[in-house]
Amino acid sequence: MQTGVCYFPEHWPRERWETDVQRMAESGIEYVRMAEFAWNVLEPEPGEYDFEWLEEAVELVGEHGMQAVLCTPTATPPKWLVDEYPDIRQEQADGTPLEFGSRRHYCFNSPDYRRESRRIIEKMAENFADNEYVAGWQTDNEYGCHETVRCHCDDCTTAFREWLREKYGDIETLNEAWGNAFWSQEYRRFSEVDLPGPTPAEHHPARLLDYQRFASDSVVEYNQLHVDILQSANADWFVTHNFMADFEPLDGFDVGEDLDFAAWDSYPTLHAQQAPDNPAPEGDPQAQRVGDPDVTGMNHDLYRGVSDGAFWVMENQAGDIRAFPYSAEPGEGMMRLWAHQAAAHGADVVSYFRWRRCQFGQEQYWGALNNYDGEPDRGLGEAATAAEEFEALPEMAPPAGDVAILVDYDSQWALHNERHTPDFEYWGHLRAYYRALRSRGVTVDLVDADTDLAGYAVVLAPSLHLVSEDRADRLAAYVEDGGELVLTIRSATKTDTDKLRDDLAPGPLEPVLGARIEQFESLAPNLEPQVTYDGDTYDYRTWGEWLQPEDATVLGRHESGPATGEAAIVENEAGEGRITYVGVWPEPDLADAIVQTTLESANHPVGQRLPERVRLTERDGHTWITNFRTDSVTVDAGAGDFVLGEETVPARDLAIVDVPAHEITISNK
Ligand code: GAL
Repeated sequence: MQTGVCYFPEHWPRERWETDVQRMAESGIEYVRMAEFAWNVLEPEPGEYDFEWLEEAVELVGEHGMQAVLCTPTATPPKWLVDEYPDIRQEQADGTPLEFGSRRHYCFNSPDYRRESRRIIEKMAENFADNEYVAGWQTDNEYGCHETVRCHCDDCTTAFREWLREKYGDIETLNEAWGNAFWSQEYRRFSEVDLPGPTPAEHHPARLLDYQRFASDSVVEYNQLHVDILQSANADWFVTHNFMADFEPLDGFDVGEDLDFAAWDSYPTLHAQQAPDNPAPEGDPQAQRVGDPDVTGMNHDLYRGVSDGAFWVMENQAGDIRAFPYSAEPGEGMMRLWAHQAAAHGADVVSYFRWRRCQFGQEQYWGALNNYDGEPDRGLGEAATAAEEFEALPEMAPPAGDVAILVDYDSQWALHNERHTPDFEYWGHLRAYYRALRSRGVTVDLVDADTDLAGYAVVLAPSLHLVSEDRADRLAAYVEDGGELVLTIRSATKTDTDKLRDDLAPGPLEPVLGARIEQFESLAPNLEPQVTYDGDTYDYRTWGEWLQPEDATVLGRHESGPATGEAAIVENEAGEGRITYVGVWPEPDLADAIVQTTLESANHPVGQRLPERVRLTERDGHTWITNFRTDSVTVDAGAGDFVLGEETVPARDLAIVDVPAHEITISNK
């Protein structure tokens, strides 16, 4: 486990670089990411390259015993390029092109932009191919940030039609697959199919879904272009990309297939405020200081899944940030605690954003390890401590859980196209179960819905909305072979092309479940819906379904509304395994009860229900106890030894012990 930092040498006088780089090394930093948005300084005039400054910066980094991570600088095409090829710009749904003067103003499908990207990447790759100090590359920066995955330009129209032709072969098949008999939406040929622009009422959901798939695939293809060039220039380089938190429009697993590992950008106090499952716009007051450990944690685990192993945090929050609506300074100790949290979840490198607060441009209000005068800011000492502590830890394999949550971007898009209520948000629903598992200290793998599930004792498939016959067969086989599967609201409702079936949900999974979903409703918070489960009554939120059991056993019934008395939660044994269907969106107590029963039924150890904002995270025989609270907690680690810290873990601090999480007891008296 190591640390890194993002550095922009082009923002500072050369005389300063040596001091900066030396101080990085003194702070225990091992990787320095550079050149992220530097296209214009690398190629100030078309075809005239200047790599000398970057070579010098890389050299300095290497001389101080660190490694450079370079970036393809394509997130910011320079002015001359935009002027030469104005069509490379993204267009919004109403046809407005994005202007130069910010970033991410390009279209992924523009042939001109692909050619120009190829050119600058090839030049850079060739130039640095033999440089011993370059460890690897980050492609572009945060694909899709600022809502830029989905473009509406002419190049995208052409590419979309081609994508559809490849998928459906002929237009009749497309009409049938989408169900275009509705509202007279049939097409006669692919050239008639436009990108979804402004319309009076909502769009056809199947058309939207395919457009969203196409847009995500376009990024995958564009990223592949970067990867191919870099890998053929130097096979020893790693190639990664820095993804974002709770990100909807881009299928991380698809992009990840072409990367050596995934990285992501973690800004806990920003993400806690933006998380859809936050109670108020500003979140709870504590989260403004420490973030929400399960929002941060779930994204660590997602990108561990995308990486299929260890991942990086490419940008870790280094202090206050220009987050909206509020930008509180993190609590004392958080820069160190966040680094450890990342390491516990499987990060091999935690790299801070950025070395020094910028003195100009759009991000002057975004904090850094050093203040804008170049002197250490609040985070630097903490980052140095984390680096020192990482150094002392043994090498560890990334966490590998035997409990999985299935993630399906296509289901997410389909659900969001037809939410039925503004409160229906996919990541928030997943997190209801993630939180429950994590508050019992369970390691959770977030994996692609079509991953081989054989190694998992428990699999949760929250709102796995689109289920093809194939997918259903795989899930059924998992259960019959002894698996413990939990399906939740809106699962297996539709086909892969977003249609309801002849049979009620869960369609092809009905024989395994032994029950059908008869009715469903979305619920405003003031309806205060309730269900029973295992003899107790619980609140739930947002969505309720009632089921008609055939062979299934009823575990919970509705206690409110027209559903009163109807089945809400059922289970069934099938083959060697068990399947549960949860027809409500559980509040935390119900989620905990369901998770506990499920773990016990799979003979999985169940730890104590942890105090709020304390998390136990296992990595390779070690457990991190991370305390995000404002008071201390006491750890009873049984026979375990403390590798770091001690029995009393102060506020915003941590300890590491060498026993599994379920053997640890935490008290906060
Ligand atoms: C990230 C981005 C960085 C920088 C940072 C602070 O999202 O990757 O380039 O913009 O936020 O705004």
